[in-house]
Amino acid sequence: MSSGSGSAAFARRDGALCCEDVSLVEIAQRFGTPTYVYSRRAIERAYEAYANAITGRPALICYAMKANSNLAILNLLARQGSGFDIVSGGELARVLAAGGDPHRTVFSGVGKSEAEIEQALRADILCFNLESVPELQMIERVAARLGRRARVSVRVNPDVDPSTHPYISTGLKGNKFGVAYADTLPLYRRAAQMAHIEVVGIDCHIGSQITAIAPYVDAADRVLDLVDALGREGIHLLHIDFGGGLGIRYRDETPPDPATLIAAVLARVDARGHGRKTVMFEPGRSIVGNAGALLTRVNIVKHGEQKNFAIVDAAMNDLLRPALYGAWMDVQPVAQRTATPITVDVVGPVCESGDWLARERELAVEAGDLLAVLGAGAYGMAMASNYNSRPRAAEVLVDGSSMHCVRQRETVEELFAREAVLP
Ligand code: LLP
Repeated sequence: MSSGSGSAAFARRDGALCCEDVSLVEIAQRFGTPTYVYSRRAIERAYEAYANAITGRPALICYAMKANSNLAILNLLARQGSGFDIVSGGELARVLAAGGDPHRTVFSGVGKSEAEIEQALRADILCFNLESVPELQMIERVAARLGRRARVSVRVNPDVDPSTHPYISTGLKGNKFGVAYADTLPLYRRAAQMAHIEVVGIDCHIGSQITAIAPYVDAADRVLDLVDALGREGIHLLHIDFGGGLGIRYRDETPPDPATLIAAVLARVDARGHGRKTVMFEPGRSIVGNAGALLTRVNIVKHGEQKNFAIVDAAMNDLLRPALYGAWMDVQPVAQRTATPITVDVVGPVCESGDWLARERELAVEAGDLLAVLGAGAYGMAMASNYNSRPRAAEVLVDGSSMHCVRQRETVEELFAREAVLP
């Protein structure tokens, strides 16, 4: 059985689903459920797929940690030399706590606060990916106050359709992201005049879960046109950041591998004479997505009037992607059963009908069975909440035949520890 693109982090051994050399049955016994399980090897291989495609030239991979910001995962990537793409002061604090390098960290996002800008300047991050004139002014103001120069890159909205879910398209004219293409040059001119701003790069991001190369190449061409135009004005950039977004296989998607994507983009970069500039990518999902699964136990099998339900102990608060995007995620029984499969919806205990993890699957399930939702390493735990006062899941990182709890399950007391009643 394949876990999708990349190395097979999850595979069956004697019928039982394992992560690397550890059976998911054992993980459930030791840590309970719901639990996120990650494969160290799969994360490292996924990173290497990018890093190996850019060796021998100035380049930097900045892992988009919004996909999964567990410190253990950040630390593994930092050890491999990865940089980070952050979108908040909280994420910067995680980079530092995990031993990541702030000089390899870029700060994206449309709504950076003054406090976050100050925090990032003090940490001396590689650059701010700036998204608007007011943001430029804010960065100049904070940098002046601190007596520093802020390195900036402008996030261009290339107006390219990535053909992905509307919630995760980011490079279209109607999206809140980036600087409109036509406004980019004036913004650079303005930035280049500012005393506390140093213009260092350009970047773009067109969307997520992109399974074709063409939109990237189109975006790259649009960005390179701007690099040329800036050069003609004497504004010379040090780096070009092509963003993230490469998709993974959840079901039957056939995304290109990172090497193919990078080769296509680099061919454009080189053809246009920019081979000495640092090229950057900000992958998130494709680094961790197929390296993780959500392990859950079936509490009840309910035969409803129209449908059968496998009611499991994980819910939309643990894994929001199906409820929010209608995402299809693969659900596998941990132990293979011989019983006849029935058509079931896999749902959680949360009190709303949007609480489902999978619909109309053929599964031989009984109460007490373990199920694994595959492809859950990205935007799984990272988007988890405490809805219905549900403590968030534990996280376990598997390394060969050993397993490490990298985040303990929350306790209910922790959920309301900061609340108070009126005197
Ligand atoms: N860089 C920027 C500026 C981004 O906004 C994103 C993702 C990335 C990099 C990483 O993109 P990736 O390689 O992961 O596709 N929660 C959604 C995905 C939201 C993506 C937002 N931006 C989901 O579960 O599908």
